[in-house]
Amino acid sequence: MRLVSITMLEPGMKLGKRIYNEEGIVLLGEQIELTSHLIKRLSQLGISYVYIHDPGTEDIEFPELLREETRIRALKEIKKQFSILSGGKMKNQYPYLGKVFTDVMEMILEDISSHSDVMIMMSGMHTMDHALYDHSLNVCIYSLILAKALGYEQSKLMELGLGALLHDIGKTQIPSHILQKPGKLSQEEYEIVKNHTLYGFRLLKDEPGIPLLSAHCALQHHERLDGQGYPQGLRGHEIHEYGKLLALTDSYDAMTTNRVYQNALLPHQAVEMLFAGTGTLYDQRILEVFRDYVAIYPVGLTVQLTTGDTAVVVRIHREAPHRPVVRIIKDQEGRKLDAPYDLDLLHQLSVMITGVGEEMALSFTSEEPQFT
Ligand SMILES: [Fe+2]
Repeated sequence: MRLVSITMLEPGMKLGKRIYNEEGIVLLGEQIELTSHLIKRLSQLGISYVYIHDPGTEDIEFPELLREETRIRALKEIKKQFSILSGGKMKNQYPYLGKVFTDVMEMILEDISSHSDVMIMMSGMHTMDHALYDHSLNVCIYSLILAKALGYEQSKLMELGLGALLHDIGKTQIPSHILQKPGKLSQEEYEIVKNHTLYGFRLLKDEPGIPLLSAHCALQHHERLDGQGYPQGLRGHEIHEYGKLLALTDSYDAMTTNRVYQNALLPHQAVEMLFAGTGTLYDQRILEVFRDYVAIYPVGLTVQLTTGDTAVVVRIHREAPHRPVVRIIKDQEGRKLDAPYDLDLLHQLSVMITGVGEEMALSFTSEEPQFT
């Protein structure tokens, strides 16, 4: 299997992994042949990368952090609870929000603790229909990996994990025509969207089973070190460490996901973009730890080598993620090899990665994107 950007999909390619909806129902099975209609639909749904079945790469293993059961349960509960809140129901009619998500977090923490030294990699399982649910779960996982790396104990992992999973819960109170508007928001609309931080805090702060600091994650995830964030314009030390951490993981997931106004960045591009904001937007110490945990060349990614060959990342060395084991699939002339072979870049120091095969036209500008 290879990881292929949605922009590079072609009719006739076959899916390598199933695609689910948030109910855990398989919408597209493995081996389904893509048509131009399906590709268009995947792109409209905001899916950035898919696994494609490719002869010669069948044996590549994709490390999955969460069990399928955990991921489906988490997405199901997020959808259920968020839909109830979007429907305008008062939250005090649903006193079990804290209980539901604590149970989900226990499953997630159990999965994460069963892996040692995991890395942040693009998720191998996609859901259709709602980018907010996927985003909530991704930010939760990335934040937990980072927090573990920072040495957080179990109770803090629970507190931060809940806050990360629910950081955008306030979006349920924003009119959907604004949230789903294709294209850039007007200043007035942007001001309305910014309120999701305050709404989220209000929804969570008195909720039984939700620690107050988790509610602060919803409140502070858009604060930035230089005071230019929102809603309170807090500066540096006024922002809780959870807020600083979420600022990074939230932005990272937004950058690596296709949006209406932007193609997804690759992991190394997103990390560079974050570094451009050190000291002004993001905390340098936390970012440096984060960088060491991002798989900049994730398994399955197509890369170009200095030899002119095209290869697929097969395995990552934890101690040297920038020099993975790759499988050569095409020669310098772009001809497919009959017998692809592996090359360990950790031992072949004269060979470098010069680019990624699925490099896409980037619509990013130097202006800070309108992440909400
Ligand atoms: Fe947000």
